[in-house]
Amino acid sequence: MKISIIGAGNVGSLAAMRIAADGLGEVLLIDIVKGLALGKSMDLEDARPLLKCNYNIKGTDDIAQLKDSDIVVVTAGLTRKPGMTREELVAKNAVILKDVCLNIKKSAKGAIVVIVTNPLDIMTFYALKITGFKPGKVFGMGISLDSARFTNLIANELNLPVTDIEALVIGAHGEGMLALPGFTKVKGVRLDEFISDDKITSLVNRTVNRGAEVIANLGQGSAFFAPSAAIAAIVRAIAKDEKRTIGLCSYLQGQYGIADSCIGVPCRLGKNGIEQIMELELSSTDLAKLKKSATLVAQATAQLSA
Ligand SMILES: NC(=O)c1ccc[n+]([C@@H]2O[C@H](COP(=O)([O-])OP(=O)(O)OC[C@H]3O[C@@H](n4cnc5c(N)ncnc54)[C@H](O)[C@@H]3O)[C@@H](O)[C@H]2O)c1
Repeated sequence: MKISIIGAGNVGSLAAMRIAADGLGEVLLIDIVKGLALGKSMDLEDARPLLKCNYNIKGTDDIAQLKDSDIVVVTAGLTRKPGMTREELVAKNAVILKDVCLNIKKSAKGAIVVIVTNPLDIMTFYALKITGFKPGKVFGMGISLDSARFTNLIANELNLPVTDIEALVIGAHGEGMLALPGFTKVKGVRLDEFISDDKITSLVNRTVNRGAEVIANLGQGSAFFAPSAAIAAIVRAIAKDEKRTIGLCSYLQGQYGIADSCIGVPCRLGKNGIEQIMELELSSTDLAKLKKSATLVAQATAQLSA
């Protein structure tokens, strides 16, 4: 299986490392900056004897080499600066994404495309439009990372292992994120049986702001360890045909009463991409918030040039 990662920055190169070390396929790292992807791939290759792992990784600045990829992960683009929202990146990252997606369309027609570039939901819908690929083949990584962040914060609060907690976040990967305590279980028991409503509200708010909190502390760039782990989990589900349910930014065609937009919802993921979109019984308030986010994504995407 050929897995190409476009953008050899923090998120892309760490995702390449995780995917290669997991033995999920041949990895090709691509970046527009001359020598960057090649240098990083050489460094990653040199680690093989130390890790006793014979993985296959290459790097290039020639995007045409993504030819015949089975999976393409797109991490090319600018990151937020402290105090910036993801939406403020839209104009600059749309130019990058359009160029990248036209190349994917030209050279890797059969690929499953995983968008990571922010603002995630707008970029995913835009990528779907530019490539013209089937909806289940183009989707975005965002809410699986947000769910992991919610899980981690709950685990810290309760002093429990993360594996005891199943937390769910859906919606936009941004301000419209919906952390769902009602769908969150601690060893099968509802979260609100463990902690007060005030504590839950504080955990939800911290989840929404977690990315910004990381950025503020880093001073430059944005999160990459957890995002790269979220990408690797998605690639693994496809490569191993796991048919696992993972939160993905997906094109909706009537599900949740939303049509013709992309937003984060739980999806069953396997070797053909998204095989099923799971519909949760949301409260009317949460459903209204999800619909509002989807409308904003559709409006913002409509303003981008085709
Ligand atoms: N969806 C998520 O959950 C999530 C999480 C973290 C980061 N992100 C986003 O991912 C993107 C990358 O983040 P990062 O931390 O790796 O940034 P980074 O600055 O470290 O890396 C971005 C890389 O993209 C490359 N690039 C730019 N234009 C390109 C093109 N046309 N072709 C190939 N490569 C190109 C740059 O040269 C750079 O190396 C940002 O938009 C960031 O906001 C999303």
